[in-house]
Amino acid sequence: MNYKDNLNLEKLPAHIAIIMDGNGRWAKQKGFLRAAGHKEGTTAVRDVVEGCAEIGIKNLTLYAFSTENWNRPKLEVDTLMKLLVSSLKKEIKTLQENDIKLNSIGNISNLPKKARKELQDVIDKTANNKRMTLTLALSYGSREEITNCITQIAEKVKSEELSIDAVDESVINEHLYTRNLPDVDLLIRTSGEQRISNFLLWQIAYAELYFTKILWPDYRREDLFEAIYNYQNRERRFGKTSEQLS
Ligand code: IPE
Ligand code: IPE
Ligand code: MG
Repeated sequence: MNYKDNLNLEKLPAHIAIIMDGNGRWAKQKGFLRAAGHKEGTTAVRDVVEGCAEIGIKNLTLYAFSTENWNRPKLEVDTLMKLLVSSLKKEIKTLQENDIKLNSIGNISNLPKKARKELQDVIDKTANNKRMTLTLALSYGSREEITNCITQIAEKVKSEELSIDAVDESVINEHLYTRNLPDVDLLIRTSGEQRISNFLLWQIAYAELYFTKILWPDYRREDLFEAIYNYQNRERRFGKTSEQLS
C-alpha cells in the first residue's frame, strides 16, 4: 500500500517524537562495530526529516542521546559526540534547503564544548526557518527536565515572582525544555523495544504510541508514513466516550 497517498493531510499529528533505537543491534547483525550502526542511523535521520517536511509535519523531535546514555563506554560516548558534530556540519544544508529550524532539548551544558558550539551555530543559522521545527533531544532525560522545572518554579515562588495559586499546567509547560512545542500526538519507537526510556513523560500524556520492529538504521520515510496512517485510523477519545466525539 502507498501510505503517503492515503494520508489525510488535514489530520496530521502536530508533533511526532521518535525514539531512534536499534543502531547497535543493526551493526551487530552485520558484524560491524556499534559505531557503524550510529553512522548509518544518520541516513535514517535525514530521510525521516525530509519525509516529515515533505508532507507538512510541523514538529519532529528525535531522541538522540539520553541522560542515561552517558553511562555507556567512553569510546561509544565519544563516537556519538563526534558524530553529532559532523552531522550538524553536514546537515545544515538539508535544513536550509527544506526551511527547517533546529531546536534542542536536554541538559546541553553537559555536551562537549565543540558539540555545544556546533549545535548553537546551526540553531542560530536556521532560527528564521518556518516549515518545520526539528528538535534534537540531547543529554535529555524527562526526570531531569521535570526536576529542573520544579526547581525553577519553586525559586519563583520563593522570591514572590509567582504565587502558589498561579501554578497550573500551563506554568509547568512554560518551565519545561519543550515550552515552545505542542504536546506529542504520535510517539514512535523503533527496534521492537516497548518502553519510554525517560523520554517526554509529561508531554506524551495523551500521545498515541507506535512500536515497530525495524531497526533505526533501516527506517525510512515510507515507514513513517505507515505509522502516521495507523495513527490517523485510531480514535483519540481524551477520556470522552466514542459517542461524544461524533
Ligand atoms: C540508539 O541505538 C542510539 C542511542 C541510544 C544513542 P542503540 O545504540 O541503543 O542500539 P541498541 O539498542 O544497542 O541496538
Ligand atoms: C533510548 O534508547 C535513548 C535514545 C534512543 C537516545 P536506549 O537504547 O538508550 O534505551 P534503553 O536503555 O534500551 O531503555
Ligand atoms: Mg538501544
